[in-house]
Amino acid sequence: MQIVNNIAVLKLLVRQARSNGQSIGFVPTMGYLHEGHLQLVRQAALENELVVMSIFVNPLQFGPSEDFEKYPRNEAADIEMAANAGCHIVFIPTSKEMYPKGFDSYVDVQGITTTLCGAARPGHFRGVATVVMKLFNLVAPTRAYFGQKDAQQALVIQKMANDLNMDLEIVVVPTVREPDGLAMSSRNAYLSADERKSAAILYQSLTAAKAKIMQGLNDPKQIVALIKSMIQSEPLAVVEYVEVVSADDLKEFEQELQSRVLIALAVRFGKTRLIDNMIIDLEA
Ligand code: PAF
Repeated sequence: MQIVNNIAVLKLLVRQARSNGQSIGFVPTMGYLHEGHLQLVRQAALENELVVMSIFVNPLQFGPSEDFEKYPRNEAADIEMAANAGCHIVFIPTSKEMYPKGFDSYVDVQGITTTLCGAARPGHFRGVATVVMKLFNLVAPTRAYFGQKDAQQALVIQKMANDLNMDLEIVVVPTVREPDGLAMSSRNAYLSADERKSAAILYQSLTAAKAKIMQGLNDPKQIVALIKSMIQSEPLAVVEYVEVVSADDLKEFEQELQSRVLIALAVRFGKTRLIDNMIIDLEA
């Protein structure tokens, strides 16, 4: 696996691959890799000839009081894990390489970025869309891989790619979970032992809500209330939001659930903010 820190070198390698007719699978990450990221790499390796991963903790997508400085980092372990999972090139730029002095252009996907995490983290998706657009321009991937755990992020990237006529396929890969159901996330590393135990309530509440929907409950307000009451039974959990919306455009349902339903939540355990979600296809 090649480790590249420099944009010019990355572009050269990618240009060579494309002129050899190779398809390119791209996995953008912020590092501190876990099994969820490795699933993305493995799927990219199955579907493409060349697999490129980026590791970059993107300052643009963190608010001033968020965890940019203390976001977990372990470059040596990441490099080993990426290589073992089938990655060919790992791109690890500095902030200066990505945002040189004078950088002044941003990508702003509107509409779907104003709800859920977008409401709680103003500017977050502008930072995500901007860095992902830059990375897409550098890697020129055939396919790019994102985890379903960040459901809103996946929709924002898909919308950006559609709206701006980008020539690539966005592949969304199912969430990888710990044995007790907690969605894998680099931020799980922040949790104390007690918080980690309590955090299992997130998946339990999503699963309970899904069971109720399958039994015929179709009032979004009742589903939200059910999930909130389950989560609030854990003293360490503080709910930021629980929403039941259309999985296609994040719009609220007027009265009853319809077609593809996204249940999305963000909950704090101490200083750690965790998100999770579940999609229920009522037409399937
Ligand atoms: O999901 C992430 O890790 C980040 O938001 C991404 C897509 C790598 C952009 O920085």
